[in-house]
Amino acid sequence: MGRLLNIRYMNVVCWRHGGEQYYEGRQYMRKLSRNDPCWCGSGKKYKHCHLKKDIARLHRPRTVDEIGREVVIKTDEQIESIRKSGQLTRDILDMLEERIVAGITTDDINHWVHQYALDHGGIPAPLNYRGFPKSVCTSLNDVVCHGIPDGTVLREGDILNVDVTTILDGYYSDSSRMFLIGQVTDEARRLVEVTRECLNLGIEQVKPGNTLGDIGHAIQQHAERHNYSVVREYIGHGTGIRFHEPPDVRHFGNPGTGVVLVPNMVFTIEPMINAGGRRVRVLEDGWTVVTADGSLSAQWEHTICVTRHSVEILTA
Ligand code: MF3
Ligand code: CO
Ligand code: CO
Repeated sequence: MGRLLNIRYMNVVCWRHGGEQYYEGRQYMRKLSRNDPCWCGSGKKYKHCHLKKDIARLHRPRTVDEIGREVVIKTDEQIESIRKSGQLTRDILDMLEERIVAGITTDDINHWVHQYALDHGGIPAPLNYRGFPKSVCTSLNDVVCHGIPDGTVLREGDILNVDVTTILDGYYSDSSRMFLIGQVTDEARRLVEVTRECLNLGIEQVKPGNTLGDIGHAIQQHAERHNYSVVREYIGHGTGIRFHEPPDVRHFGNPGTGVVLVPNMVFTIEPMINAGGRRVRVLEDGWTVVTADGSLSAQWEHTICVTRHSVEILTA
């Protein structure tokens, strides 16, 4: 029992005695004991006041990542707001489904996403984020992620990732899908399908008590079983209150390792899977990430929330 009292300290002023007078009052911290007055100032003894709550707090899973950054666990109210944001992000992606066809440009997509977000009370998060110049990321064929919309015309056989992040009422949600332009090769279709399965298998691992390593492992296993590779340099992330929050969500790893999932954690899972090698490079524009070997790359992303018993997809 005594060991548990380490969690709270009290200030003690110690006066040194010198001849007739006391001098040099110094503050020390000492551990709070059961019979000390409670730290909260209630005047009650600690054991009759906050002791039980403090012990309970000590037994909750740690909500920091491997390098000590705090993983903010959302309140139910915050999750309700992120859920609303997620519905707008989903609606934006739905809106694109029938518009994305051969002949349009990625700038068209940028315009539609931007306008739809504003029309529904949202803000497209990518615009001006760390200097990103557009309102959405459009990543074509060998582009892994962070493609910048421009005048590029979509052509039959292309595969395209559109990554939408919306701020609604101050809350972030982040989701991306693949779009097939007309008939694509079997090879491209298979990559897109397996990548989607990777996301789903990752999501299936989400429940309290499992770890981020369980998610990464499930994704890596599936991708590599198909002779694909998992991009390491770009990862999922906590989100909701800021665009990118702790924890890092890797799409590779070992079961049972890393941050333990607890209810009301909110993060993305967003595997980037390459048909060839896992290596990537960033183009001169400072954003566009492409496969080093020119092979195709695919990505799907959802924002999810850990629930009491499993998972809720906030962008579905
Ligand atoms: N939406 C991306 C993600 O999934 C981040 C894009 S950052 C931007 O985390 F600046 F390129 F928009
Ligand atoms: Co993301
Ligand atoms: Co995203």
